This record gives sequence, C-alpha cells and structure tokens, in this order.
Amino acid sequence: MTKQTVLTGITTTGTPHLGNYVGAIQPAIQASHDSNVSAFYFLADYHALIKCQEPSHVHQSSQEIAATWLALGLDTDNAVFYRQSDVPEIMELAWILSCVTSKGLMNRSHAYKASVAANEKKGETDPDKGITLGLFNYPVLMAADILMFNAHKVPVGKDQIQHIEMARDIAGRFNHVYGKHFVLPEAIIGEDSAILSGLDGRKMSKSYNNTIPMFLPEKKFRKLIMKIKTNSLEPGEPKQVEGCTLFSIYKAFATEEQTDEVRKRYAAGIAWGEMKQYLFEHLNNHLKEPREHYDELMLQPDKVEQVLQQGAEKARMVSAPFLQEIRQAVGIRAISTVG
Ligand code: TRP
Repeated sequence: MTKQTVLTGITTTGTPHLGNYVGAIQPAIQASHDSNVSAFYFLADYHALIKCQEPSHVHQSSQEIAATWLALGLDTDNAVFYRQSDVPEIMELAWILSCVTSKGLMNRSHAYKASVAANEKKGETDPDKGITLGLFNYPVLMAADILMFNAHKVPVGKDQIQHIEMARDIAGRFNHVYGKHFVLPEAIIGEDSAILSGLDGRKMSKSYNNTIPMFLPEKKFRKLIMKIKTNSLEPGEPKQVEGCTLFSIYKAFATEEQTDEVRKRYAAGIAWGEMKQYLFEHLNNHLKEPREHYDELMLQPDKVEQVLQQGAEKARMVSAPFLQEIRQAVGIRAISTVG
C-alpha cells in the first residue's frame, strides 16, 4: 500500500495555546513519528494576510508557531515542515484552480457568508463592504495547499470541513476537464474530547480571548491557571467533573489512572484552590522541558529559519515537478522542445 499523505496548515496569526496543542499539535506530532504516514505541515502565512494586516504580528506568529512545533518534538526528518510562502508553486496552482472554480461555489462559503450577514445586520447598504477578494477566494488557496501535495487526509477543526469539501469539488472539476491529476482529499475531524475549555469555560479560542498560551513563563502560567472559572462550591463539598474546566484540561494531559484518581478527589470534595495548584503542577511538569527548548529556539531564529528552509526544499521537490505536470495538462507549455 502506498503511504497516506496527511497535510495540515496553521494560520500564522496568534500564539499557540493549550487548546491548539490538544486539538491539533499533539496528534500531528504523533503522526510525524509514524513512518507509514507522509506528513506535510505548514505555516499558512499567506492565509494570515486575510485576517491580519499587522506585519510584525504575522512575522512574530510564524516564529512562535514554528518554535512551538519544534520544541514539542516534531520529527522533521519524517514530516515535511515548511512555510507556505516558500513554496511559490502553491500560489501558481491557486490561479489555475480558480479558473475551474465557479464563483457560485465561493458565494456559498461560510466565511464569506458570515461577513455578508454581519454587514446586513449592521444595516450597511453594500453587503460586501470591507470584504476583500482574499477572503472570498480563500477556499481556492486552501484547495491549492492541499492539492499541491495530493493529500489524502486533512486534519482540521469542524469550521473547516466545508473548505475540504470545496477542495474535493475543485479537484473533481479539474480532473473532469483535464484528466485525473488530483487526489480527492478527505477531512479528518478531531473528537469532541479534543476540544478544550478556556478560562471562562467556553471553548478555548483566540476569538473568545480565553486562551492559555503554551509557553508562558512559569509564574504567569500559574497565575492564569488560578484564574480559571469554577463554581462556588466550598471545600469538602463533592464536586462534578462534568463541565468542569479544570478537570477537562487535566484530563487532556493525564493518563486514565491519573484521571480516575482526580475523579475520586472531586467526589471527596477537593477545594478549588487545591485543584488549581494540582493542575498547575501537573501541566508544568509536562511543559517544563519543551518550554526550555522553546525559549532556546526563540533566541535562535537562524536555527528555526534553517529548518523551514530545509522543509521548503523538500516540499518543492514534490511541488515543482507536479506543477509542471499541471501546466502541461492545461496547455501552458513551451511552443517547441527544441533549443
Ligand atoms: N484555514 C485553516 C484554518 O484556519 C488553515 C489552513 C490553511 C489549512 N491551509 C490549509 C488547513 C490547508 C488544512 C489544509 O484553520
């Protein structure tokens, strides 16, 4: 059996947090050690421009995300780890794909529709006010990211399922017109248990501003853990684990035995202050070593850059010849092979 290609992108706007780790980073890193999987992971920096026009922010986020993945043990010998903008074939493919993509398909994109709905709600006369072509076309760029490497499986959050379906549609359309060149990708959706609650109990997400960053200095990290919202049950009163943010975070980082142990302590009425301290110590033990590695990497941007360059080189060994094949297929080729 040929290896399955797994591919995913991380938009470079923001600092990785515990929710990203549990939902995406940890499973991806695990897969990077599996020699039956051919993994492609990339920093989606051109996607960042859709949401963020703060150059220093896009740049800083790329550095932080790359350092995070490396500090957590990504196997860059087995997985190809690169920056989207270092693989120019992707942008070229995006254009070619946009020429087989119907505008109507893009009209139906949730991200675009949500922006239109927001304008209508505000009573704007122009429903497209402030909406860029970048936002509108974004599913095509994402299709190019995926199809460039003929990914079979694409691990993403639920909000991205539609984009993978669009990539399939676009691939199918291209194959129909020009012959079979692209694999039809499939989304892999993490389990619900992989969704972590944030400081306020809602899903941990940048957009709710309730995240716990992965690699804060120890003191700040402890402070944030102490801020996690709980109910007002007193020490000694039995407590529920269901719906408890402290428990959900603990569970994501603990073995089954450890989790059972804490379940018992809830039933026995552990005090919230004590549980918070316990959670802090447990997480801190997990994160201490990678945090040190991360801090080192953040001081060695050359090293991180070098890893990304090597990744881009590997990626282009695939993308450059494949793009030639696609150009040939659509009739973009030399007039004559002589000379
Ligand atoms: N749009 C994705 C997100 O916001 C990130 C992304 C960009 C991506 N290109 C991709 C994910 C290709 C999977 C495959 O989460």
